[in-house]
Amino acid sequence: MCGIVGVVGNPNTTEILLSGLKKLEYRGYDSAGIYVNNQEGHDALIKRTGKIVNLQNAITNADQGLSGIGHTRWATHGEPSQSNAHPHFSQDRRFYLVHNGVITNFAELKQEYLRDVPFQSDTDTEVVVQLIAYFASTEHLNAQQALQKTLQLLEGSYAFALMDRQEPDKLFIAKNKSPLLIGLAKGFNVICSDALAMLDQTNTFMEIHDGELGVLTKDHIQLFNLEGQTIERQSYKVEMDADDVSKGTYDNYMLKEIDEQPAVLRRISEHYYHNEQASISSQLLTALQQADRLYIVAAGTSYHAGLVGKQLFEDLADVPVEVQLASEFGHHLPKLSAKPFFVFLSQSGETADSRQVLDKVRQLDCPTLTVTNVANSTLAREADFALPLCAGPEIAVASTKAYVAQIAVQAVIAQSLGIQKGLNAAKKIDIDNQLSLAANAIQTIVDQKDYLKQLTHDYFYNQIAAFFIGRGNGYATALEAALKLKEVSYIHAEGFAAGELKHGTIALIEEQTPVVAFVLEKSTAAHTRSNVKEVLSRGAHALIISKKDLSNANDQIVLADIDERLMPLVAIVPAQLFAYYAAVEHGNDVDQPRNLAKSVTVE
Ligand code: F6R
Repeated sequence: MCGIVGVVGNPNTTEILLSGLKKLEYRGYDSAGIYVNNQEGHDALIKRTGKIVNLQNAITNADQGLSGIGHTRWATHGEPSQSNAHPHFSQDRRFYLVHNGVITNFAELKQEYLRDVPFQSDTDTEVVVQLIAYFASTEHLNAQQALQKTLQLLEGSYAFALMDRQEPDKLFIAKNKSPLLIGLAKGFNVICSDALAMLDQTNTFMEIHDGELGVLTKDHIQLFNLEGQTIERQSYKVEMDADDVSKGTYDNYMLKEIDEQPAVLRRISEHYYHNEQASISSQLLTALQQADRLYIVAAGTSYHAGLVGKQLFEDLADVPVEVQLASEFGHHLPKLSAKPFFVFLSQSGETADSRQVLDKVRQLDCPTLTVTNVANSTLAREADFALPLCAGPEIAVASTKAYVAQIAVQAVIAQSLGIQKGLNAAKKIDIDNQLSLAANAIQTIVDQKDYLKQLTHDYFYNQIAAFFIGRGNGYATALEAALKLKEVSYIHAEGFAAGELKHGTIALIEEQTPVVAFVLEKSTAAHTRSNVKEVLSRGAHALIISKKDLSNANDQIVLADIDERLMPLVAIVPAQLFAYYAAVEHGNDVDQPRNLAKSVTVE
């Protein structure tokens, strides 16, 4: 959800900004812009609507600098237009600012301080840069002082990078509730929303925390709190190289990430079962054991993974679980149990809806765990405990491998907790082995791409609606399958509990409507099959995905048998491929579907 980059002290600034923005494009792709300054009086501001390539085409050889800032936008305030694109600048053209986040009191600030200032855009960000200029001129402050004064007035979330034409050898940055990192490169410094944007420049990074301001030159980094006191911070190495974030031989990231799923499951086994230091800490297990109820909080795909996790925790660790949508839970906190424990599932670790729940439950002194793919993310840092998903960077906006990893890591935690409690259910299952079986089963599916592509064409081509149904874990899988199909193919898809169709939704079934049924559990297989008969008799084009020992001869996709509770790991994969091939066949941008952005940092 918006990405920002900055460079100070490198003659290839424009190129580095563009390459960083391309890597952050998954965070927003409504418009993009850069500001560069050569520190000898020449500067340039270029902005374009649409993808980064439009910006790239607009940049000329003259648009070079020694320092600069860049932004790729997912519109929040103001439509996606060139004037609303970042960087924004002050009326006197002294200050240039890029911003990721939302300033909630921008209208009040505009009214109080900037009534006479003409505005170029409808954005909250322009209010901030005009305010910086206002304090700089009316109170004779330098850029750092004016930024500090402005930050003290702001409410909301932000990662800012600011440039001042009077001090073009400096980058000024600030952070509150939006991701931002400083990268320490050889002879120059960079900033970015996500380390992967700058991995080809450096793998040494430094965190800037909420409520801090930074001043960077090419060889110096200073951090301050909002009272102006200096803060010391160590740098750290990011264990990822630029290849981890490249498409390799694939045309897009989504297919690469679907194909990586067997490797992700093996990495999770390796990390949690074959690496002493990485096992789940006894402090975490003790805290979990003390809980009388787990609350799994998440959004979107991660929420669907939580629904699968519920059964794992309840069966293997004998603890009641509530799975909650972060965007609802934060505003309607239910009556909590006496000893609640909160588990946050988040690929990015930055989702604003989840963060606000974390903030609330920390105030209630509830213990918290974040399970995330981004080790130094905000949700990871702010929870009491954090565990990694080990999925590797997920760049396609539609989440695939992180979903599978979230289910697998929940299985690992649930079993460890069950063993700690001495429960037979946990002792009897070998999760390490199950993950290996699941990896093989997924491999078998991804090796049948031609067949899945043909099925996708036969069932989904030119369709305007599709239904996914199942019971239990099959229902959770149906919800995720429908989300995948709609977000990349734009076909209206819905996931339903198979038994619920007849209570209303079956009215939507018409001749040739695709209905995909998941038959994954013994206890409900016959029921789900009779629901399939109900839709078939109303003209539906039904496709059955079944577990091998529950399969019938005519089922279109038969999945290898693993423990029923872990079948969602495997069952989702054909549906991911349906979504992928339907999107490709419809000519959609698979990795960056319309209106979406990865890492949703606004509520
Ligand atoms: C869908 C998708 C989203 C995310 C959701 C939560 O494919 O990726 O639904 O799952 O925005 O994001 P995280 O997991 O980063 O908190």
